[in-house]
Amino acid sequence: MNASTLPTVTLNRLFLLLIQILHVCLMDVKPQRERFTPDYKVYHNLTSIALTLDHFIKENENFVRLVDPSKYLSKQGRKQYVLHVTNFANARLEDTERVKVLLSFGEHAREFLPIESLFHLLRRLLKNWKSFDRSDVNLDKLDIYVIALANPDGRQHVETSKNYCWRGTSSGVDINRNFDWEFGGKGSSKDPTDEEYHGIKPFSEPESHVYRDLTEEVQFDGFLSLHSGIKQIYIPFADSVSQKTGRVPDNVKEMTKLAQELATSTIYKYQYGRAVNLNDYSADGTVFDYMAGRRKIPFSYAIELWGPDKHQGPSCFDLFNPPNSRVDIVVSNLYPLYIKFFDYLLDWKKQSSLNNKLEKADRSEQLSDKSLPYSALEEQDVSSLSPILFLLCALVILTIVVAVYGKYPLCRRMYQRRRVVSLRALSSTLSLNLFSV
Ligand SMILES: *[C@@H]1O[C@H](CO)[C@@H](O)[C@H](O)[C@H]1NC(C)=O
Ligand SMILES: [Zn+2]
Repeated sequence: MNASTLPTVTLNRLFLLLIQILHVCLMDVKPQRERFTPDYKVYHNLTSIALTLDHFIKENENFVRLVDPSKYLSKQGRKQYVLHVTNFANARLEDTERVKVLLSFGEHAREFLPIESLFHLLRRLLKNWKSFDRSDVNLDKLDIYVIALANPDGRQHVETSKNYCWRGTSSGVDINRNFDWEFGGKGSSKDPTDEEYHGIKPFSEPESHVYRDLTEEVQFDGFLSLHSGIKQIYIPFADSVSQKTGRVPDNVKEMTKLAQELATSTIYKYQYGRAVNLNDYSADGTVFDYMAGRRKIPFSYAIELWGPDKHQGPSCFDLFNPPNSRVDIVVSNLYPLYIKFFDYLLDWKKQSSLNNKLEKADRSEQLSDKSLPYSALEEQDVSSLSPILFLLCALVILTIVVAVYGKYPLCRRMYQRRRVVSLRALSSTLSLNLFSV
């Protein structure tokens, strides 16, 4: 190493250091002054989320199973915990009244509450189901699939950096902008430092793959993307193109009806409607638009489960999550919303399978109803044809008879006599008159 290379190396190092500092500053919005932060005796952290889920799955093997745990992993290799919840002992899979729903939790790293509400939901659902009071919801006919921890790397980042404003994955991608529905539009950002950064292409992030893969395998009736920060229920579509054109799903009326019922299912009052109408704000490449638009799931929503009544200032944790002392009561208040969703879909499925049966019955009845008049018509056609045929035959026979019997004097006399005679007589009279007069 000579004297001239030394400063170059140092300069390079300094330059790299500067870039690293800039990167940290841009990527990590510095932790804001928080009013309160999570107490991990109340809120779960990444470690206790995994422990609790593993334990829960072990304790309830007839009700909760982990789906492809080695397949559904984050970019840094953490489990996303895809659960299948049903009464496996009684599950009659061929039942046309079975309802399949997919619930998605933890897409946004700073939103701790939805995952807490999942824990409450699972515990209470199974406790009530196993006890004699099974009234909450019928797990015999319900397949609940859960993506429990969509973005574990982002969560890890929040917990270690204590930056409670962090929303994205470890690479800063908002997975709720990473889907193949109006990807890259105005309601998202191509700037990697923006919190709505959509990634380089649809499904560029491993965290998004589970949504695509699960919906390839299972035809879901309902999908919920669960968030926090405000109390609102969104009906598709939220993208900027739909905002302009007014595009809505085909069954928007039915979707709105359920949204309305969900909005009044708890002690909280939710605003509901198209996100673009509620907030004058569009979002492109979202998962719930993808589920409604691409995957044609009949009931797909994004739900902001909870938000503070008032919020000011730059703090984040209290914007997305209730105070430690309020978590238990909030998640308990939210429980009826899930039950309403399940019950509504169970009724809807029952009704539509009934309607299908009725329609089928109607159709076969109509067919058998119509088969009578149709065959009668055909018979009529045949019988109405037969006189014509009969007449035709008779005419042919008559012609033959005339041709053959024309030689018989009797026939001539009987049939052709007068005309022939008269014609001859006429012609003879004519000729006579003409040529003789
Ligand atoms: C996670 O929470 C548990 C309590 O449930 C606590 O003992 C543990 O230290 C926490 N881990 C981290 C990394 O904060
Ligand atoms: Zn969110």
